[in-house]
Amino acid sequence: MLRENTKFILLTVFIALLFSSCNLKTETDGPYFGNGFHNGWADQNSIVLWTRLTQIPEGNADGIQFLDISAKEAKALDKEANAEKIHSKQIPEGLILDDMLGACPGASGEVKLTYFPLSNSENKIETDWIKVDDNKNFTNQWKLENLSPDTKYVVEIEARLNNKSKISDKIEGAFRTPPALEAEEPIEFCVVTCHDYWRKDTSDGHKIYSAMMDIFPDFYVHTGDIEYYDKPLPWAMTEEMMRFKWDRLFALPLQRNFWSQVTTYFMKDDHDALKNDAWPGMKYGPVTWERGLEIFDKEQFPSHDKFYKTIRWGKDLQIWITESRNYRDPNNAPDGPGKSIFGEEQKKWLFNTLQKSDATFKVIINANPILGPDRKQKNDNYANEGFQTEGDEIREFLNQFDDVYLCNGDRHWQYVSHIENTNLWEFSCGAGSDIHAGGWNQSDVRPEHRFLRVKGGFLRGNVSRKNGTPTLTFQHYDVNGNVVHEEIFSK
Ligand SMILES: [Fe+2]
Repeated sequence: MLRENTKFILLTVFIALLFSSCNLKTETDGPYFGNGFHNGWADQNSIVLWTRLTQIPEGNADGIQFLDISAKEAKALDKEANAEKIHSKQIPEGLILDDMLGACPGASGEVKLTYFPLSNSENKIETDWIKVDDNKNFTNQWKLENLSPDTKYVVEIEARLNNKSKISDKIEGAFRTPPALEAEEPIEFCVVTCHDYWRKDTSDGHKIYSAMMDIFPDFYVHTGDIEYYDKPLPWAMTEEMMRFKWDRLFALPLQRNFWSQVTTYFMKDDHDALKNDAWPGMKYGPVTWERGLEIFDKEQFPSHDKFYKTIRWGKDLQIWITESRNYRDPNNAPDGPGKSIFGEEQKKWLFNTLQKSDATFKVIINANPILGPDRKQKNDNYANEGFQTEGDEIREFLNQFDDVYLCNGDRHWQYVSHIENTNLWEFSCGAGSDIHAGGWNQSDVRPEHRFLRVKGGFLRGNVSRKNGTPTLTFQHYDVNGNVVHEEIFSK
């Protein structure tokens, strides 16, 4: 009941501030928060907040459509790696990226952050005004430390042009920190994968964000392919176009609203690192691998020293967020001992932290599948032959636990896999919209499939105590928020 009340108060505060900031938007010339803000890497005591200043309060709805070029032409442009040509082939003559449909160009200016516990608004912390980084796409990040566990924080961020100008915009939102490791608390979470601007199913963004907002999870994980650089309108083979795609996506109201209110862990995969099945050393057009990682890891999403982390969410739940692009060997290297996706250091960390954990349920959230099954011709993850040696090592290690559950993104269909006579379970959340679903034949049900659905949606996890018994429930949802499958585990 208390939780519901807290949610209601938070929503009311949010709506009130949304209206006051709407008034601000019509009275000033900006800069604005067209991309809202998002958070990342939360634990009991810290979180990273990200925001960006924009020239306009909303994405450019009257913008011009890109020139549609074929996949073959795009491939040639990639090979030629000429930034000017990549633009001129896709942007109509005389126009610039800012003129294009959905554009949300950045703006110089200053931002100030205020945050406080929802239940203790006297306890406000205000930062100094700080200039957004014009060289990092007009973004700024704050790392907040010394937070209290199990606490809802209200966030307010103000914008101004400089110290002589008035406040030009203000946004409001929230996050919550995880409960301490001895707390027996019910926890709700959602896991999603694979969306992009063109495969959204409403003009305001992806429907799943309305459905997930109704659940109002304690946290949410995006397992990557948040955008696709290597899809048309435009094929984003330059830094400017990559940033354009983020600016456009972050301005979608459904996503923006959700991300500003829910504790989030953002992961990346191939399409938002560089391109399909990408590995270190590759290029996309003139953009290097290093630059691709920098844009995601250091600029467009909350930064972290390492890109994997384990977080305890109370007594009954511990999650692992893994990283599957930064440390991998080339997909086309011959399989065998030493060929890795996680890299030695991350794998050691994963094994050690799993062994040390006394959480009732251990949930490992991966960008890519570890069990699968996946398509025969794929060669990018642990369910594929190209990584079988390390895949077997990991599966064998995990099989010693009877309380480990795998979640994954990447595959555009929903499944639950359980290999008979093992402890291995894997939950694939499925693509973010029905138009984005595919890649598997609905009638191809394998022995390990407990559930298979080639449609969009998301995965919901719930940990709670039912008559004192810790219970983990996984539910697959369709895009409209209906439950389509459920698995329950009790300890
Ligand atoms: Fe994908």
